[in-house]
Order: sequence, then C-alpha cells, then structure tokens
Amino acid sequence: MSDLKIYPPSAEFVARANVKGMDAYRELYDRARQDPPKFWSELASQELAWFRPFAQTLEWDPPNAKWFTGGKINACYNCVDRHAASERKTKPAIIWEGEPGDQRIITYEELQRLVSRFATILRQLGYKTGDRAVIYMPMIPEAVIAMLACARLGIPHSVVFGGFSAEALKARIQDLDAWVVITADGGWRRGKEVRLKDAVDEALLECPDVRNVIVYRRTGSAIPRKEGRDLWWHEQDEQFSGAQLVQMAETCPAEELDSEHPLFVLYTSGTTGKPKGILHTTAGYLLQTSMTMKWVFDLQEDDVFWCTADVGWVTGHSYVVYGPLTAGASVVMYEGAPDYPAFDRFWQIVEKYKVTVFYTSPTAIRALIRQGDKWPEAHDLSSLRLLGSVGEPINPAAWEWFHRVIGKGRCPIADTWWQTETGAIMIAPMPGVVPLKPGSATLPLPGIIPDIVDTRGVPVGDNREGFLIIREPWPSMVRTIWGDPKRFEEQYWSRVPGAYFTGDAARRDENGYIWVLGRVDDVMNVSGHRLSTMEIESALVHHPAVAEAAVVGKPHEITGQAVCAFVTLKKGDWDHTALGKELRQWVAHEIGPFARPEEIRFTDALPKTRSGKIMRRLLREIIASNGVTGDVTTLEDLTVVTALASQHDDD
Ligand code: WTA
Repeated sequence: MSDLKIYPPSAEFVARANVKGMDAYRELYDRARQDPPKFWSELASQELAWFRPFAQTLEWDPPNAKWFTGGKINACYNCVDRHAASERKTKPAIIWEGEPGDQRIITYEELQRLVSRFATILRQLGYKTGDRAVIYMPMIPEAVIAMLACARLGIPHSVVFGGFSAEALKARIQDLDAWVVITADGGWRRGKEVRLKDAVDEALLECPDVRNVIVYRRTGSAIPRKEGRDLWWHEQDEQFSGAQLVQMAETCPAEELDSEHPLFVLYTSGTTGKPKGILHTTAGYLLQTSMTMKWVFDLQEDDVFWCTADVGWVTGHSYVVYGPLTAGASVVMYEGAPDYPAFDRFWQIVEKYKVTVFYTSPTAIRALIRQGDKWPEAHDLSSLRLLGSVGEPINPAAWEWFHRVIGKGRCPIADTWWQTETGAIMIAPMPGVVPLKPGSATLPLPGIIPDIVDTRGVPVGDNREGFLIIREPWPSMVRTIWGDPKRFEEQYWSRVPGAYFTGDAARRDENGYIWVLGRVDDVMNVSGHRLSTMEIESALVHHPAVAEAAVVGKPHEITGQAVCAFVTLKKGDWDHTALGKELRQWVAHEIGPFARPEEIRFTDALPKTRSGKIMRRLLREIIASNGVTGDVTTLEDLTVVTALASQHDDD
C-alpha cells in the first residue's frame, strides 16, 4: 500500500468546506460515539421541521429501532413547503433535462404547487394515510412529484425501476398490496420509447386489487385504456380550474405523521429468489440523507447537485429526492442514457447547468473512459468542485481518470459506501478533511461504527479481510423487510448478535481506511445494480426447456460483473445457439433487460456437494480460469467440471 498515491484536499477546497481538518472530523466522530442519542437529537432538532418535537431519541430493542418517537413530522413538508416559505422559494429545486433535449426548471414554490395538486388528486380518489402506491415512471419531474405527494399524505410508495419487466412489477405490486399505480405512457431511452404503460397493463392482469392507474403523458403515443381504472394525470389535474378550486388544490395540507411512519418500501435482491421489500421510515431517514449531503457532498447554498441514478434505485431516493431536497439543494435530473445522442451527454449537461457536484457510478465512468478523452475535453467542466462514486468498488484506474480528466485534478472524489438497507451513506470521505486513496471509501461518517470480523464475529486485525458489519443503530437504517420480520432478523442480525451484517467483505488498513471488496453472498453487482443469483436461476427454470440452472457473476471490464448462467436442459433435441438467445431474452422478460445473462453455458449436470448444494464457487473458478484450481474433493461428479471447463462461449 505504501507506494499508493494519496490525494489530500486542496487548500482552495478546504477554505470553503463545511467540515475542515482532521481535528474537526475527529471531534464530530468522537462526540457521536460517546453519546449517540445526544448527537442525533441535536441534529434532528436543528435540521428538520417538526409539527411536534420528539420525546425520545432512540428505542433500541435489537433488531428493532425506533428513532425520534413522539415526534410528528412530514417528509414532503421538509423537502418542499419549508423551503417554499423561505428565501429559497424562487430557487430551482429541480433542473430537468429530457433525453430529446426538452427542459424544465421547477422552483421550490412551483414544486409545492405541483405536489399539492397531485396529492389532492390522490386524496379525491380516496387514497389516504397507510394505503400503498407503486410508482413506475421514467426519470421525469413527475416521478419526484408522485413520490412527494405520497409522502405528503402518508402513503408509503414503492418506486419500481422502469427497466424492470411486467413480471417483476407484478410481484412488487402484489407483495405490497398496492391499490394505486402511478405511471407514464412511456419514457425516452436512446431515442426509443420505453412503453411503461404496456408493462403495467400486463402486470395488472394478475393484480385484481389495483383500483386506479394514473398515467402521465410523456411520449404521447397511443395506449390502451381500461375504463374506470385508468386515469390521465392531466385530465385529473384539469378539474382544478377557477381560482377557488386551484386554491383548494394547491393548499393540500401535509399530514402530521409519526417519526416512524413508513415512507417507502424499495425492493432489492437478496440471497433467495424473492426480492426483499426494504422499509424506510420518515424522520431518521430524512435526517441522515440530508446530513450526508452536508458532510459528504459538502453542500453549499449555491451548489448545483447532480446524482445520475434513476429514482428507481436507493441512490435516486436518497440523493435525487429526499437528501438534497430536505437540504434545500438544486437538483439536476436527466431522463435518458449517458451515450445518447453521443458520448458527451453527461459533460454537455454539466456545462449547460453549471453542475458543481457530480455523483455517478464506476460503471458509467468506465464506459465513458473507453470512448476517449475527447468527449469531456470538448466541454467546459470548470463549474465542478466535487465528484462522487457509488454502487461498487471503484478501481484505481477509473478513479485516476475521473480525477484527472473530469475533475482536472481540482475536485476531490467521494467514494461512498452504503446500501439500500443503510438508507444513507455510511463510509465516505468528508472531502475537506480526508486525504484520499483511490479505491477506498476511507473513513466512517459520524455515528457509524463499522467493524470487520471473522466468521465467529471476532474482529480481524489491520489489513485482513473479513465481513463488514455495523455495530450501533443509526437513524436511516432499514426497519424491517415488508411482511417478513423473521427474514429481516435472520438476514441481517443473526450472524453477529446485536450487529448489522452487510453481506460485504472488507479490509481496514493501517490508517483505518476501509476497502470494500465486494459481496460475500449470492448477490452479484452488475453495473452497480444488485442482482440475486437465485432470482435469475428461478427465472431460468421457469422456461419449459430448462431442468436446472446455476448463475454466477464473472468479472467484466465495464460493468464490474456480468451474469453467467450454467443450464441443464430437459430431454430433447435442442439447438443451443437459438435456445441460448431465447433464454437470455426470457430472463429480460422475467426480470428486466439489465439482468440478461451475458453468457449461457449448457451442461449435462451441475457440480454439487454431497448434500446437493450447487457449488457456485467452483463455477466462478471455471469462469475465471476456464479450468479448475480449487479443492474439488466434495464434488459428486468430477467429469462435469472437466466438461464445463472445456466449453467456451455458446452465444
Ligand atoms: C456495493 C447502492 C464498494 C456493496 C447504494 C453494497 C459498494 C452494495 C460501494 C449495495 C462502494 C455500493 N464501494 N462497494 N462505494 N457502494 N457498493 O443496495 O456491495 O444497490 O453491499 O445500494 O453495492 O447496493 P445497493
């Protein structure tokens, strides 16, 4: 490690930073560690707007945490109303660009009107606190407006990423028992329409409890409409005409909700075939997402903040919507693909809107590196002052490029480690403080007590690999798995009693810097998206030709990992090339295009242990080396391995 280059923050950056100098960080960190309730309660009182102050900071009955109990609060009020009532009212809240080049700038004041109108629509249709809504939208302001309107009424929302298929959407609507689905006719991606409403129609064939689908018109293409169930957003909105009705719609009050009122459920892949509904609640989540805006992104009043994530993922929830809006920031939002119409779309947007803080994924960075420096060099990127990375470990070469070519050597890079379950960033540099080491997420944020332990839960020493855990509760932590508290406890809290098990491996170096190495479970990370091996396997075995399937991640230059499936077929005379194509398409249909296997290998049998478990480790080795090096004494049938290793790409 000693030959590694270290990047301290520049004097210019430090001069303006919210937190400057290692001493200031240590002071904050120690204060949070010594008296966590005091630390968090002071921040919660200062940073959030309360209808009624909370009585108790934390009730901790592992694994169940309740934060800020006795308090009454509303997420939408915190994100919108209080700014609209301040000098921020004419400040842009959302700076949006559509893929075709259309744009909208929505101030806090306008956002309040738009959100209130949509909340009024939901209320008039009879939806109320505690009912659930599913949002399946492109990256347009209405996705944010729908989320905030739900929050305003206390309707927990579940945003389903627009890249998920009808099958995946159906499973989420059913698991949540949602009664209303908010969608659009479609969205634009690489110049083509993604027809969202078609997927909703297909999903709803098996969701009889859904009463309404509210459809925003984005692309204007013809869509079938089910009378009584399907409503156009704009037609609902048109009923507010005349001063009195408009006034009524635009003053829809924000419900006074408990601190622990469910804000949203976001489904994420776990180690079984069934996605987990991660539940986040109101006050703690808002506090930690907005504090990390200040600590990690060093948010200043004049910043233009752009997180490129889709609102369908947790990064979009926390750093496109709730974190930056709670903190009163101007947020850039872009509908389409980074390479459309050309590879400089990101840099064009940075230049056009004078983005100051830019937060993206290593996959996006690697894909853009490949296109060469001429794309960013054609643009004025001098507005940038800070960069961020999330979703997977960033390899030092990509880090260096991001720093040199995009940040011109001036901008610190915040490599942020966190998860859907943690709600907010847990490990990341405070950029005015921490000297950076490319590839390390560096140090834990105040209030976060990570540790690295062995299989018995005993801390491993410096520079040794182990499981990453978090020892103390934190405000934005997952509260449960929707409808499955037993799985919640088993999954996260049973490996090391009393501590949260992240599922990641990590190492801590001699300076206390944490290096996250990747998942230790059957979760893959493809382009920074979490995919479960089991979920793809169960999709594959649904296909009539497939007898058995085993899925593993294989290293990939751009996406970090790629999906590789080993498949055994039922008896028959199969054309492997055609079937390989069909199976890849099948997975795209069952889950979504981003889960499509890059490679399918057909085999007569899968390597299994004597107890019948598929040996994925072995399959991973076969992929990595096209041979076998590991210990195979537990293998039932060695010939299977040899056959698999000798087989190359079938596709
Ligand atoms: C991985 C995304 C290394 C990790 C916010 C984690 C990272 C999973 C980093 C969560 C990072 C995320 N360095 N690995 N900076 N950020 N990961 O739930 O394996 O989609 O467990 O949340 O992504 O993915 P999720």
